[in-house]
Amino acid sequence: MRGRTLARGAAICATWTQLTGAISLDITSETSIKSAAATVAYGMMKYYTGNNTGDNPGNLPSPYYWWEAGACFGTMVEYWYYTNDTSYNPTVTAALLSQVGTNDDFMPENQTKTEGNDDQGFWGMAAMSAAEMNYPNPPSDEPQWLALAQAVFNEMVTRWDDSTCGGGLRWQIFTWNNGYTYKNSIANGCFFNIAARLARYTGNATYADWAEKTWTWMEDVGLMSSDYAVYDGTSDTTNCSTIDHLQFTYNQGIYLFGAAVMYNYTNASSTWNTRLSGVMNGTDIFFKDDIMYEQACEDVNTVGTCDTDQQSFKAYLSRWMAATAKLVPWTTSYITPKLQASAKAAAAQCDGGTDGTTCGEHWTANSTYDGIYGLGQEMSALSVIQAMLIDQAPELVTNTTGGTSVGNSDAGTGSTTSSSTGTVDTPVTGADKAGAGILTALVLCGVLGGTGFMIMGA
Ligand SMILES: *[C@@H]1O[C@H](CO)[C@@H](O)[C@H](O)[C@H]1NC(C)=O
Ligand SMILES: *[C@@H]1O[C@H](CO)[C@@H](O)[C@H](O)[C@H]1NC(C)=O
Ligand SMILES: *[C@@H]1O[C@H](CO)[C@@H](O)[C@H](O)[C@H]1NC(C)=O
Ligand SMILES: *[C@@H]1O[C@H](CO)[C@@H](O)[C@H](O)[C@H]1NC(C)=O
Ligand SMILES: *[C@@H]1O[C@H](CO)[C@@H](O)[C@H](O)[C@H]1NC(C)=O
Ligand SMILES: *[C@@H]1O[C@H](CO)[C@@H](O)[C@H](O)[C@H]1NC(C)=O
Ligand SMILES: *[C@@H]1O[C@H](CO)[C@@H](O)[C@H](O)[C@H]1NC(C)=O
Ligand SMILES: *[C@@H]1O[C@H](CO)[C@@H](O)[C@H](O)[C@H]1NC(C)=O
Ligand SMILES: *[C@@H]1O[C@H](CO)[C@@H](O)[C@H](O)[C@H]1NC(C)=O
Ligand SMILES: *[C@@H]1O[C@H](CO)[C@@H](O)[C@H](O)[C@H]1NC(C)=O
Repeated sequence: MRGRTLARGAAICATWTQLTGAISLDITSETSIKSAAATVAYGMMKYYTGNNTGDNPGNLPSPYYWWEAGACFGTMVEYWYYTNDTSYNPTVTAALLSQVGTNDDFMPENQTKTEGNDDQGFWGMAAMSAAEMNYPNPPSDEPQWLALAQAVFNEMVTRWDDSTCGGGLRWQIFTWNNGYTYKNSIANGCFFNIAARLARYTGNATYADWAEKTWTWMEDVGLMSSDYAVYDGTSDTTNCSTIDHLQFTYNQGIYLFGAAVMYNYTNASSTWNTRLSGVMNGTDIFFKDDIMYEQACEDVNTVGTCDTDQQSFKAYLSRWMAATAKLVPWTTSYITPKLQASAKAAAAQCDGGTDGTTCGEHWTANSTYDGIYGLGQEMSALSVIQAMLIDQAPELVTNTTGGTSVGNSDAGTGSTTSSSTGTVDTPVTGADKAGAGILTALVLCGVLGGTGFMIMGA
């Protein structure tokens, strides 16, 4: 209720501040795409205060959790890759390196009480993108992108849990966190996605074996349906016999790109051809007239119930669909029209706020700014707009095709925080996680209804 009232107020404000800006996007013009992307990147990075004197590098202010900062800097790595605009690189590199922790594994001391597998995974995927995109390497006395991704992978291997459900990763790393009993698609998706990409980058079959094992487990337990819908999660208190059937863009996307990478790695094997085709078809549910939407919580006629985390999910499906189209050309006939229509619709939403370029949330509304703003909306718009440069973008590199990131296949394994018996003391119960299912359940029940919106100014 409260969220709706506030949003309507914001929308009214938007109508009288529209004069100042509004971004125009001509998807046939490289100059126009670069300019639109630059505007939205600026709008997203305005939320980042971590490089101000006295603030914490790498962190975002409330209400944005730590995992979303990892996603944000990963998006900025891609911003550089798509546009060749280097102006944010020093800030982005410093932010990524600020959160590696003492063991170079994205388990910094400040986060270890609450960190889940997916939280660590989003930072790990940012590092993996940096390796694949040949983003400038840190100085040699700093941790390297590839090794950071390997550290995350190695620690997730130690957390694979056969004691229930025939395997899988738990959402949470530590026993004391809510969600420790939840085995979900995003935690396993981060592991699958990183494993597939490490296999392709390094050529080491051990990574591919884990990608295969994770996919098979997802199917066996029913989180990946026979028609390739990816459901949110399941509980090990029932030995994973019941499934939360909510579907989110980021879950479908994380398996989509991992499958594309495995298709490439296996030289177009028929198994991965079928899986890729299936999981791509499974994205249908997230499009209306080719425009992407978060069907579990977005509603054209109302504010909807997407929480702060969920408002960023379209960024990841956009990102992974674009990368899939780059790597596997036969997917473009399906993917390109969807990304193009979504980019136009997203850009149309970016004419709000006092700057006149703040992005709204509902791309399917066929309208200008809807008044619902935040870092997630900026990130989503940026991801889909910059993906319009996919044809000009270089191939994702590997160790043998120009990749320069230095790896360490033993990275991370010495960590004291890699098992559920970590040394951190204070139990924390909180909802500050990337996983969606539990939060959404709360939102749908009205427990958190609407109060998460409108905290940040734009
Ligand atoms: C951890 O939190 C403390 C206190 O908020 C802060 O001073 C420090 O910079 C943080 N460290 C990192 C790596 O974010
Ligand atoms: C913070 O980052 C922005 C964007 O990269 C940059 O313009 C600004 O100078 C940085 N501020 C500091 C204090 O480094
Ligand atoms: C739990 O599920 C796994 C995989 O489906 C199965 O192998 C195992 O026997 C089940 N355990 C119990 C106690 O039912
Ligand atoms: C893919 O093909 C290349 C070149 O023929 C070969 O070296 C490589 O081992 C193959 N990869 C797999 C996973 O079969
Ligand atoms: C894998 O991707 C590379 C580009 O990175 C491409 O040259 C190669 O043909 C792809 N292999 C297959 C089997 O699609
Ligand atoms: C995906 O959809 C296409 C077009 O309808 C179809 O040809 C293909 O077989 C589907 N893939 C799978 C795995 O069902
Ligand atoms: C979107 O709005 C425009 C003008 O308001 C209208 O012409 C067009 O048909 C609408 N498109 C859809 C898909 O509703
Ligand atoms: C960015 O630079 C790379 C190579 O340095 C080039 O292949 C690519 O086309 C450029 N992209 C744009 C959008 O200018
Ligand atoms: C590729 O990987 C091998 C084995 O890990 C390593 O020796 C080599 O230095 C790597 N090449 C590059 C360019 O990083
Ligand atoms: C391949 O990766 C595994 C898992 O990290 C590692 O144990 C093994 O040493 C690697 N093999 C090579 C040849 O680098």
